[in-house]
Amino acid sequence: MFLWLRGQARSATWTPRWLAAKLEGLTYDTLPRIAPLQGLRYSFARKSRKDRSGTPLKTFKIAVIAGDGIGKEVVPEAIRVLDAAGLRFGFRFEWHAFDWSCQTYLNTGKMMPTDGLDQLRPFDSIFLGAVGHPDVPDHISLWGLLIPIRRTFRQYINLRPVRLFEGIESPLKNWKPGQIDFIIVRENNEGEYSQIGGRLYEGTEEEIVIQQSVFTRRGVTRVLGFAFNLARKRNKHLTSATKSNGIIHTMPFWDECFQAMRGEYPDVRTDQYHIDILTAHFVRHPDWFDVVVGSNLFGDILSDLGPAVVGSIGIAPSANLNPEREYPSMFEPVHGSAPDIAGKGIANPIGQTWSGALMLRHLGALEAADAVEKAISVTLAEANVRTPDIGGNASTQDMGQAIAVEIGRVKQIK
Ligand code: NAI
Ligand code: MG
Repeated sequence: MFLWLRGQARSATWTPRWLAAKLEGLTYDTLPRIAPLQGLRYSFARKSRKDRSGTPLKTFKIAVIAGDGIGKEVVPEAIRVLDAAGLRFGFRFEWHAFDWSCQTYLNTGKMMPTDGLDQLRPFDSIFLGAVGHPDVPDHISLWGLLIPIRRTFRQYINLRPVRLFEGIESPLKNWKPGQIDFIIVRENNEGEYSQIGGRLYEGTEEEIVIQQSVFTRRGVTRVLGFAFNLARKRNKHLTSATKSNGIIHTMPFWDECFQAMRGEYPDVRTDQYHIDILTAHFVRHPDWFDVVVGSNLFGDILSDLGPAVVGSIGIAPSANLNPEREYPSMFEPVHGSAPDIAGKGIANPIGQTWSGALMLRHLGALEAADAVEKAISVTLAEANVRTPDIGGNASTQDMGQAIAVEIGRVKQIK
């Protein structure tokens, strides 16, 4: 594909600094609409979306659920960056937006249509912002959309990287970029988040509330196996979160499975801590960790704490993976819809954008994934553009634009 700009023929995958700055992350689809406004003369020599050799560009079909609150603000910025990565590395996206949210619930009584999961099934991936609104109870938004997607599509791994970037001030003193770099593997399909239980004698003095946890051998061993394999590819150190002193059935079972699996991975060093002291170690010794594996609840808690120790929950990404790839996986930031800042245009789009990098990696676009992560880290380190949560006064759009421009500049990927 050739892009004609000011009379010069340029390959769209060759993107020098000035061109990147001009394009600012514009895409094949947005260029015709926006470029004239910026005084750019352009035309697509071939509209067939093929590369120089005539091979059709690889196209990823992505279902987008921006959701509520800041989800609607950060998703377009992440898309801007991912489109820029496609332009740079020779692939494209087809984004299909689904307007499913708490607003949908307020209008229709459902977070998504009855056949919602069938609609999502054919996509390569799902790119989600956040759901949650003060007028809708959180268990409705969660169990009406997120959890059915995670469970029906067997996204039993929730991967949450934690990294201290240059240019981000950690609330912990004296830690340098590179010293904190670990990844949380959270069990995502069972555990403490179950629908089993109930309430009796509601509202009376005798009220009884029972909530069951579900730990299956299959569910526990597959998440532990994933974590061991991931540790093997990284620094060969795995930490397990437990609470077998207080939770008498499920957690000793979790520990037994962990012990049993250690034998299969003699090259992986292991540690295990009760969740209470583990949270303290996250704050006091964040450099102790490489891969940390936990049940659904423990992983959830650790993955808000992890990003907090490296600066802001606004930069934290997550991947809900179906490792067998029988179903689409889903990529979303760790944060929620942040009603306190929604509509102000100041949300940090990095968590969403980094989730996009995890999506690229899952889709096999490894170079582009590295480029997006590098563009994020270079922007944080060098650009004077930062949203208020990380100490600046830039808008969500400024931040997205700065990262998109950086994509065009990334030359060598380490
Ligand atoms: P939250 O993550 O939305 O916000 C917590 C705090 O972090 C707020 O002060 C917020 O302003 C700040 N924050 C979050 N993301 C930010 C960003 N990108 N840039 C700058 N600051 C950011 O968590 P909260 O307040 O507990 O939940 C709000 C709603 O979101 C609830 O309805 C909750 O159920 C929902 N939620 C949804 C999730 C999802 O869709 N995956 C995950 C977590 C919460
Ligand atoms: Mg959470």
